[in-house]
Order: sequence, then structure tokens, then C-alpha cells
Amino acid sequence: MKVLLIGSGGREHALAQALNRDPILEELHVAPGNPGIALIAKCHPVDADSNSEVVELAKELGVDLVVIGPEKPLVNGVADALRKAGIAVFGPSALAAQLEGSKDFAKQVMRDAGVPTARSFTCTTKAEIVAALDALGTPYVVKHDGLAAGKGVVVTNDRQLALDHAYLSPCVVIEEYLDGPEVSLFGISDGTTILAMQPAQDFKRVFDGDLGPNTGGMGAYSPLPWAPADIVEQTLIQVLKPTIAEMNARGTPFIGLLYAGLALTKQGIRVIEFNARFGDPETQVLLPRLNTPLAKLLYQAATGALKNSSTLDWAPESAVTVVLAAEGYPTAPKLGDPITGLESVENATVFYAGTTLKDGSLLSSGGRVLTITGVGENLSTARSKAYEAISKIGLRGSHYRHDIALTASLPQKVREN
Ligand code: AMP
Ligand code: GLY
Repeated sequence: MKVLLIGSGGREHALAQALNRDPILEELHVAPGNPGIALIAKCHPVDADSNSEVVELAKELGVDLVVIGPEKPLVNGVADALRKAGIAVFGPSALAAQLEGSKDFAKQVMRDAGVPTARSFTCTTKAEIVAALDALGTPYVVKHDGLAAGKGVVVTNDRQLALDHAYLSPCVVIEEYLDGPEVSLFGISDGTTILAMQPAQDFKRVFDGDLGPNTGGMGAYSPLPWAPADIVEQTLIQVLKPTIAEMNARGTPFIGLLYAGLALTKQGIRVIEFNARFGDPETQVLLPRLNTPLAKLLYQAATGALKNSSTLDWAPESAVTVVLAAEGYPTAPKLGDPITGLESVENATVFYAGTTLKDGSLLSSGGRVLTITGVGENLSTARSKAYEAISKIGLRGSHYRHDIALTASLPQKVREN
């Protein structure tokens, strides 16, 4: 099978590695890719945000399947353009990608599908905003309706901040605060059938102890030793299956990766958000543990051939990934600094994200520069491997969190005290 993967981040590097492990794979092409991906696949300098460039490349290469990594091309309709050209694609249509592209749309689908989520108001006027904040109280949760690359959500007790954030966007969703640990749980869907992956946890705040601003994600781990034993089954029943059924009933089937961001509240599972693609960096801990061959699985999803009876096969090991971020990330990341020490990394996988090659030197070119994944018999060994590896890497001014999977790696008794 010939596969074309679209994207250039750590998520795509992990996808490329997992696709390569599938014996069915004959050729792996990535557009645009990055210097790490170029070590394991053929990269093409194509603009992922140009539907026509992506379609042209897919046709020229004669690929059997296109896998879309990031959300922007999906919301731009790249999957529609590829399907129109007769090419199988793992990724939802522009209409189905509105589950990520519009918070209000996602809320409507959840309401119609009976999926548990925070009570909310969609507001387009100042009067509606004020009334919603009054009705729901603190902490205030204010979300811009459209794609915002992680910057659209403010959670605050400060009413003025909540109002200021709300006034920045013509349409906002104001919702009830959900209290409880967050879990990312992904489903792979062919439009009618959806298979749940194992859960992962992402660390969204930039600094240790969940301090500082929200980011795209500073690290992740899987599995979750503390999560309820039936979390996968319950998420399938309460969230993933009804959402897929509702999208189908609306005539906009969701084919691709449905990312459910959940809060496990005292009242039960609640959806915080949907995304229409693999999470970054959750993918960097999930795919290294997935034994099911990925290229065939995504092809089955793209061609309506998943079976309800199919199950995913997971390695029993644990995985921890830590993001190495550029100085100033997420506010104003400093780019263009040399990355050193990669040759001394052992016992861990370095997934490249914001990186570029210049005159043979590897330089930082994005806020999240590398994601380093350790896999081990438990979270504690997986953490040690990831942290030992990251300590060998040099990048001036860079920073990372030291507490990824820390609490979860402690023995149950300690964790609960
Ligand atoms: P989102 O982009 O919707 O995932 O929101 C980003 C982050 O804001 C989430 O990962 C949560 O940490 C936080 N957040 C969003 N919605 C809520 C909510 N209703 N209650 C509490 N925290 C939330
Ligand atoms: N890690 C959060 C996301 O991918 O949206």
C-alpha cells in the first residue's frame, strides 16, 4: 500500500513511524514533513493548507490512502477534495470537521445525540454574554467558537477577564465549569462503526504543577492506572457511538479520528471538547503501544470497512512523552536555535516537531520542538527513559515539564493520599 500523510509535527512523526511498522506498507510519503520524518519517509515540499497541491501530489504519487494529521486542512475541506478525486482518505469532510471547527456546532450535535457535556450558552451579543456569565457563575469558561490553536479558551474567576475574552470573538460558547481529571480518548471511525483507542492524559499548562497558560500540550502518558476500568466502554456507549450515529443521521458521516476530550466529574463522564484528528502529543504515547497494523486499520476506516467485531491490540507496556519547548513558548517562542545531543539519546524515541535543517544543522522552528517518548513496563520506567533522554538534548533557553505522569506513576496508596 502507498500512503501519503499530511502534516509536519510530532504527531505526524509518530504516525509515520507506526505506519512504517505495518507490513502492508510499500511506500510512505509525507507532505511537508520535517527533518525527523525525512529519515523514515519521502518528504514533499507541499503546502498542507492548499487543497489543490495536496490532491495533485496524491494523484501524481498514485497513493492508495491519504491520512490527514492537522485540523486546519480538514476544516478547509481537503478530505472532500481528495474524495472528489476518487482517493481514499482518513479524515473527515469539512462539514464533519466542524465538530472541532465550531464549538457551537459540537454542542448542537452533543445535544441532539444525548452526549453528556457542560451546560452552555452560545452568545453573539454583549447582553447574552453577561446573562450567560450570571447564569453559570464562577469559574467562568469562555470559548471562542472557531479554530483558535489552543488560544480560544479562557477559564477564570475574574469577571473582567471573562468579559474581555468573550468580546474578542463575534460568537462565543460560555459553559459550566467541569471539575475532574481530564482524559483524551480517541475513536477511529469509518462513518458508521467506531473503535475506541486506549485513554491518554495530556498536560495542557506550560509549567509544573499545572501552572501558567494553556499550550497545545506539554506531555502525555498512557495507560491511566487510576481511571475507572470501564472508561473505554462507557466512552464508547455515552460519547463516541451516539456522536457517530448523529453525524450519520445528519448526512455528514464522520470518517477519521474522533478525539473526545473528557472530564471525569463526580456526576460522570462529560465532554469538554471534540477534535477531528489525532491529538498531539497523545499520539506519541498511543501509537508506540498499538500492535494493530496502522496502515490497514486507517485504510479500512477510510473505505467503510471497519467491523464492529474488530478490536485494537495494545502492548501491555506504558508510555510517557515529554515535550521540549522553545524559549518563550507558548507566548512568544524563540526560533532558529541549534538542537544538539540527539546522538546520545538511548532507550527513547525522539519525535521531531518544530525543527528545520539549515546548512546541515538542525534548528528549532516552532514552539514545540521535540517530543521524547519512553516506553517501559510501567509508567515509572517509561518516565525515567523519557527524562534521561531529554536531559541529553541541548537547546538554548528551552524548557519542559518535570512532572509528566509523576502522580500516576506513584503506587496507588501514595497517589490516593
Ligand atoms: P478546549 O480547547 O475546549 O479543550 O479547552 C482547553 C482547556 O480548557 C481544556 O483542556 C480544559 O483544561 C479547560 N476547559 C475547557 N472547558 C472547560 C470546562 N467546561 N470546565 C473546566 N475546564 C475547561
Ligand atoms: N493535545 C491536545 C490536542 O491535540 O488538541
